[in-house]
Amino acid sequence: MNSNSVHQLAFIAGFKLLAEHVLMNNEAYYPGLEGVIAGETEISTVDGGLIYRGYPIEELAEKSTFLEVAFLLLNNKLPNQEFLADFQSILSESAVVPEPVLNFLTEIPLHSSGMDSLRTGIGALAHFDSQVDESTKDANLAKAVRLLAQIPILIANRYRITKGMKTVPPNPELSFAANILYMITGKDPSALHEKAMDVSLILYAEHEFNASTFTARVITSTMSDMHSAITGAVGALKGPLHGGANERVLEVLQEVGTADNAEAWVRDAFAEKRRIMGFGHRVYKEGDPRAVILRKYCQELAEETGNQEMEKIADTIEELVRSEKGLPPNLDWPSARLYYYLGLDVELYTPLFVASRIVGWAAHVIEQAENNRLIRPRSRYTGMEKQPYKIMSDR
Ligand SMILES: CC(C)(COP(=O)(O)OP(=O)(O)OC[C@H]1O[C@@H](n2cnc3c(N)ncnc32)[C@H](O)[C@@H]1OP(=O)(O)O)[C@@H](O)C(=O)NCCC(=O)NCCS
Repeated sequence: MNSNSVHQLAFIAGFKLLAEHVLMNNEAYYPGLEGVIAGETEISTVDGGLIYRGYPIEELAEKSTFLEVAFLLLNNKLPNQEFLADFQSILSESAVVPEPVLNFLTEIPLHSSGMDSLRTGIGALAHFDSQVDESTKDANLAKAVRLLAQIPILIANRYRITKGMKTVPPNPELSFAANILYMITGKDPSALHEKAMDVSLILYAEHEFNASTFTARVITSTMSDMHSAITGAVGALKGPLHGGANERVLEVLQEVGTADNAEAWVRDAFAEKRRIMGFGHRVYKEGDPRAVILRKYCQELAEETGNQEMEKIADTIEELVRSEKGLPPNLDWPSARLYYYLGLDVELYTPLFVASRIVGWAAHVIEQAENNRLIRPRSRYTGMEKQPYKIMSDR
């Protein structure tokens, strides 16, 4: 085949691909909005690695704390000592959940999942927030900080209630990451556990127009309020194709059980065309940079806690899924075992994602409100042609 024919074929293939996405009236349609630029943001980009407000996550994970990153995402600059101390003290003062919301956590059925109780708990917090319907930047920032402080309490209290344990109040002396672990387990974490949790929170904090953030922006675009946007975002995050994947990942690792079973398990999954949770990504086709960072902490913690077998299972699955399907792991793949090595129960994993992503969601709510245009796309109609109406006796 000469080079002219190759060009012709490439042109036809490209045209066919384009034609699949074009409606009769020349309107583009991309299922799942894949590849569509649906808005502008200054908060983060996934082009050339994941970058928060101009800082690559590799550097933030190594040198910053989650609170510094939260401040950066919300305020568009890294805090100096004074700003960080102020931020920390406002956060400590805001770590109060009204009594009726605490009571609600004890009264809902024990089988309600962590994500369901968290979603309704955040919705309930709105009733007690004096600025609930204020959408100025200052009010939105104040509400974001309150939610950041309150969400860990909702998560930890609900968890301990379901286990029949007494709840543990936050300790203002501890870092954000250490405090979450303390409120859940009732024990001060080691420096390594605190750092591992902190890094996971940094990596979960923000990810441009993912499904839950987009949900938050759509809700904000109707001029609704911060609590409504965050409540909706929690609902979107719960699904297994999004945040819910981290809980499914642990179930897989436990089901496989030993490294010797791993290959057979993966081959069965391939044969049955099952989706392997924790692999693949809509945007990162070459690999999720967050997964690379967290893997290092998994290995260190597995060593410390005697969980090397789980690391071997994970490595075998990862190698096979990558080599045979070309799918690299996403952040949920290492974060599930990281949380397991930290001694955390699986029902906490997606709620912990919320404890961090609240910052990214809130930053997007503020950005959307500042420069708002109602998000209201069109759909492609595939239903019935116009037809004559049938009166009841003729149906
Ligand atoms: C995240 C995800 C929804 C992105 O998918 P997407 O961009 O919509 O890609 P598609 O669903 O169109 O998948 C493309 C192909 O890869 C396959 N694929 C994608 N992820 C897969 C997975 N985790 N396991 C097995 N196959 C997978 C699909 O079956 C499809 O194959 P096909 O073309 O033969 O049908 C998808 O990778 C997934 O379901 N992953 C598992 C859930 C997960 O880990 N979510 C957390 C994301 S951070």
